[in-house]
Amino acid sequence: MSRRPWQKLAGGLWVASSFRPQPAGEPSPGRMKSSCVLLTALVALAAYYIYIPLPSSVSDPWKLMLLDATFRTAQQVSNLIHYLGLSHRLLALNFIIVSLSKKSAWSSAQVKVTDTDFDGVEVRVFEGSPKPGEPLRRSVVYIHGGGWALASAKIRYYDELCAAVAEELNAVVVSIEYRLVPKVYFPAQINDVVRATKYFLQPEVLHKYSVDPDRIGISGDSAGGNLAAALGQQISQDANLKNKLKVQALIYPVLQALDFNTPSYQQNVNSPILPRYVMVKYWVDYLKGNYDFVEAMTVNNHTSLDVEEAVALRARLNWTALLPPSVTKNYKPVVQTTGNARIIQEIPQLLDARSAPLIADQKVLQHLPKTYILTCEHDVLRDDGLMYAKRLESAGVEVTLDHFEDGFHGCMIFTSWPTNFSVGIRTRNSYIKWLDQNL
Ligand SMILES: *[C@@H]1O[C@H](CO)[C@@H](O)[C@H](O)[C@H]1NC(C)=O
Ligand SMILES: *[C@@H]1O[C@H](CO)[C@@H](O)[C@H](O)[C@H]1NC(C)=O
Ligand SMILES: *[C@@H]1O[C@H](CO)[C@@H](O)[C@H](O)[C@H]1NC(C)=O
Repeated sequence: MSRRPWQKLAGGLWVASSFRPQPAGEPSPGRMKSSCVLLTALVALAAYYIYIPLPSSVSDPWKLMLLDATFRTAQQVSNLIHYLGLSHRLLALNFIIVSLSKKSAWSSAQVKVTDTDFDGVEVRVFEGSPKPGEPLRRSVVYIHGGGWALASAKIRYYDELCAAVAEELNAVVVSIEYRLVPKVYFPAQINDVVRATKYFLQPEVLHKYSVDPDRIGISGDSAGGNLAAALGQQISQDANLKNKLKVQALIYPVLQALDFNTPSYQQNVNSPILPRYVMVKYWVDYLKGNYDFVEAMTVNNHTSLDVEEAVALRARLNWTALLPPSVTKNYKPVVQTTGNARIIQEIPQLLDARSAPLIADQKVLQHLPKTYILTCEHDVLRDDGLMYAKRLESAGVEVTLDHFEDGFHGCMIFTSWPTNFSVGIRTRNSYIKWLDQNL
């Protein structure tokens, strides 16, 4: 990975501006020259900061670099705020994200938007208008992403996504405003989504919203895809629930924390939006672990061969068996002989299927509904999705795998200007089309 082209370009700019002739009557050439140099240095620094080497196959690479640089800046400002003792880093970061894009409840002729709560859990409900002649509507329970710590059902990205689903499917979309790290940790996030969903599934509530009890799906992206997958496993096993789910749609979901060296983790270790170390830190935060473990976890020291409990479960994400050669390429599994047994002792939740739905027992998987999994090539989580698809298929579940070669992590929420990406629009259309045909 080389930054050289930019250093060259920056050098060129430097030379060009240093030798510009001075017009008469301007500030002294010396001062002019030094401000030129300063400006050039700033431009070069900005370019150096923004530039990340990206494969040409990713959608709108320049725009992605700017988006990534913006996100990195927000992260660094939050780290500084944390360092100064003013606020927790994740609270500061979420404050920046939410205050930049929060949207109040609104309504149009096509969609009615209401903020309310389901059994104490905040939700934003989007009601599409019923189709003529069909009084009962389809419904999707949606769980937003953001590393279990960031974002909101009320920011414009998720508001626009859920409104589009409600409008195009004439459906009721319940977007859950579950509580986030560091206010709460695992399993509070899952408990929130389970509580809100169970409340919604009650016959009288479905009746109130004119929802067809046989046409309900759950969905989520990234960490929301993780929560949706865990929710699906809980609902499908709950004998007391009369209403079962018709589909689950998981968008680049996070599904496991045992192997941070899958081919996609190796291939995308420094990819934009979600480099590997950022993903591992989200995990450590979610499970309330110690940051000192992050580096050891990136080399799979937490699941080394001398950590017995982990070894048995790692067989469930054996990518030699679950991933095709077109994906594994020349990547080699990273299996340490000796590692750090303290990590699993201190964070046993790493081995809990409620945090890592990919490692659930086959007996659990076989009760899951028809499944849609969207994966992106430029995403550390690609193989989490691919392996889950394969395990579900082996358990007899019907799976649609929708892979985007130019996709990057998070792309589906980026559909409107100025953060509009061609792959954002295509992933959203493809997702909504699948829901329309299968829900
Ligand atoms: C992984 O564990 C081995 C054996 O305990 C240790 O030598 C190595 O430094 C650890 N690596 C990291 C990155 O912690
Ligand atoms: C993974 O799967 C391969 C092929 O099925 C098998 O040879 C190997 O022993 C498995 N590894 C583990 C750790 O289960
Ligand atoms: C983003 O939106 C702008 C303004 O509508 C448009 O000119 C541009 O082509 C769009 N870009 C992509 C990648 O969709």
